[in-house]
Amino acid sequence: MLFWSTRQRICRLSKRCSTVNDQQERKIILVVGGAGYIGSLTTHYLASSNYQPIVLDNFSKGHREFLDGFEVVEADVTDPSSVNEVFTRYKIDAVVHFAALTEVGNSMRHPVEYYRTNVGGTINLLQAMENARVRKLVFSSSAAVYGNPVTVPISEKHALAPINPYGRTKLMMEQIIADAEQAWGLSWVALRYFNAAGADPLAPCGEWHDPETHLIPNLLLAAAGKKDNLQLFGTDHPTDDGTAVRDYVHVADLARAHIIALRHMDANAGGRIFNLGIGRGFSVREVIRSAKEVTGSEFGIVEADIRKGDPAVLLADPSAAMEELGWRPEYTDIDEIVRSAWDWYMKNGFEPPSP
Ligand code: UFG
Repeated sequence: MLFWSTRQRICRLSKRCSTVNDQQERKIILVVGGAGYIGSLTTHYLASSNYQPIVLDNFSKGHREFLDGFEVVEADVTDPSSVNEVFTRYKIDAVVHFAALTEVGNSMRHPVEYYRTNVGGTINLLQAMENARVRKLVFSSSAAVYGNPVTVPISEKHALAPINPYGRTKLMMEQIIADAEQAWGLSWVALRYFNAAGADPLAPCGEWHDPETHLIPNLLLAAAGKKDNLQLFGTDHPTDDGTAVRDYVHVADLARAHIIALRHMDANAGGRIFNLGIGRGFSVREVIRSAKEVTGSEFGIVEADIRKGDPAVLLADPSAAMEELGWRPEYTDIDEIVRSAWDWYMKNGFEPPSP
């Protein structure tokens, strides 16, 4: 059961199709890192929810093809003057901040780059917001802040003990944001995503990473014959079948949560943190089975060692987001999540078009 009817789903991808009077002034939302996987879909949903999104992105990872028809500022969040300039050019009501390096393994190899981009970029953004008196922020955080969980499902009260530099940057970013609340009255919502997955088959944006490190796209690349096989990292985790368990949450549900968080801030000052997951875990072997069934392909599996920095189990307790935000994940079936990604790749290709 989806949140939008089919007509609305088609409609919401067209910025011309608004549910309210077009004369009414739309609030400008700066989407920092809005050309990426989750940011781009959020940009589309913002436009069809009567906001005016403006994207700031350096296109180091994101894709222009995802943002056709949107106002885009090509700039790097690590450059303070470019970030300040955007706030003087537009009357920004709120910021949604996605810009970050996000690969766990890469963060183990290049930690300083992660701190510079993720933490440094957030400092620049907050400074520009303070200068311009913009006091609303939705922040894209991660389950990586918890590290290896002591208890599952993981609630927001769980101890914070990240086990890789990526997770540490996300935790530091949350802490800096919380300090800004104390110092100059920033209102904020941090959304700790578990494993973002799937695609909105009607949207022009999906998951194109280079190199691709995530499980579901790698499975689908193997199913489509674009990779020789799927490397399965870790068969001796302390889980039922020895492979890692993750909580796969659909990107459409994540994108929708940002709109809900913006509305929540209109009525609630201060800061809040919410886990976004479906509250069900699937092992890597279960996701492999699903991908084989959805695609009808019998690709090969090569077993390999546990990837450095990978926790065995990440499983969300999303009840706070459900109770306080009224958010409900609509995709809770792993086959449906995998199928949505497969349909998107079949329609849009497995790689971005060359520039
Ligand atoms: N995996 C494979 N083969 C692959 C890709 C992944 O076996 O080709 C395994 C991984 O080792 C892991 C599981 O599949 O056990 C899921 O891996 P993903 O790369 O899809 O996702 P991660 O769990 O590593 O990443 C997620 C989020 C991060 C978050 C991290 C916390 O994407 O934002 O969890 O560890 F920080």
